[in-house]
Amino acid sequence: MEVIHTVEWMKQVAREARAEGRLAGFVPTMGALHAGHLSLIEAARRDASPVIVSIFVNPKQFGPAEDYRKYPGDPEGDRQKLEQAGVDFLFAPPVEEIYPAGFRTSVNVEGLADRLEGKIRPGHFRGVATVVLKLLEIVVPRFAYFGRKDAQQARIIGQMAADLALDCEIVVRPIVREPDGLALSSRNLYLSPAERKAATVLYRALLRARSAMEEGERETMRIMGLMRQEFAAEPLASLDYAEMVDADSFEPIMRLTRSCLVLLAARFGAARLIDNMQVEIVESGGGAGGVVCTL
Ligand code: PAJ
Repeated sequence: MEVIHTVEWMKQVAREARAEGRLAGFVPTMGALHAGHLSLIEAARRDASPVIVSIFVNPKQFGPAEDYRKYPGDPEGDRQKLEQAGVDFLFAPPVEEIYPAGFRTSVNVEGLADRLEGKIRPGHFRGVATVVLKLLEIVVPRFAYFGRKDAQQARIIGQMAADLALDCEIVVRPIVREPDGLALSSRNLYLSPAERKAATVLYRALLRARSAMEEGERETMRIMGLMRQEFAAEPLASLDYAEMVDADSFEPIMRLTRSCLVLLAARFGAARLIDNMQVEIVESGGGAGGVVCTL
């Protein structure tokens, strides 16, 4: 694996691959790599060559009171994981390479970026869209891979790619979870043992919502109420939101009549974690339709 630190060299390498007719697969990350990141890399390896991974802790997507300064990092561990995963190029630029003095541009995906995560973390998705577009412009991959763990982020990047007619397919992959259901996240490293146990409430709340929907509940207020009850019984958890939204517009829905997402965000001590579940309505002949929930 070749490690690349400058924008110019990354562009050069990517240009050479394209000149050879190769289609690159790209996985942007902020490092502290875990099995969730590696699942994206595996998918990239199946579809594309070369496989390019970036590690860049993007200051523009952190709020002033957030964890930019102490975001977990493990450069040597990450490098070994990527080497083992068969990655061809690691792009790990310093901040000044991506944001040189005088940098002024930002990318805003209107509407989608200012609710839920965007409401609680103002400017977050502007930072994400800006860095992802810049990385895509440098690497020019045929495919770029994102996790459904960050469902709103994936939706926003898909919208940006469509709006700007990018020649890159945005591939969204399933959530990788621990055996007890907790979604893998670099921020799980912040959890104390007691908080780690408590954090399974995210998964438990989603399961509770699923059971209710499987039993025929269609009123989102009631389903959200059940999830809030799970959180109320977990003293180490502080719920930011439990919402059900249209999978396309991310607008809240009142009744479950079409595909939607159940989105959760909660704090456990220093860690703020998110999780979600996809819900599809399946028509079953004349009777009541069923639901298919994907955790
Ligand atoms: P990061 O949190 O490092 O995540 C990188 C990618 O891994 C994202 O697409 C994220 O959704 C995916 N991912 C994280 N946990 C996952 C899990 N448990 N299962 C499956 N996929 C998972 O997301 C970012 O970085 C940044 O915002 C970035 C897109 C790199 C822009 O800075």
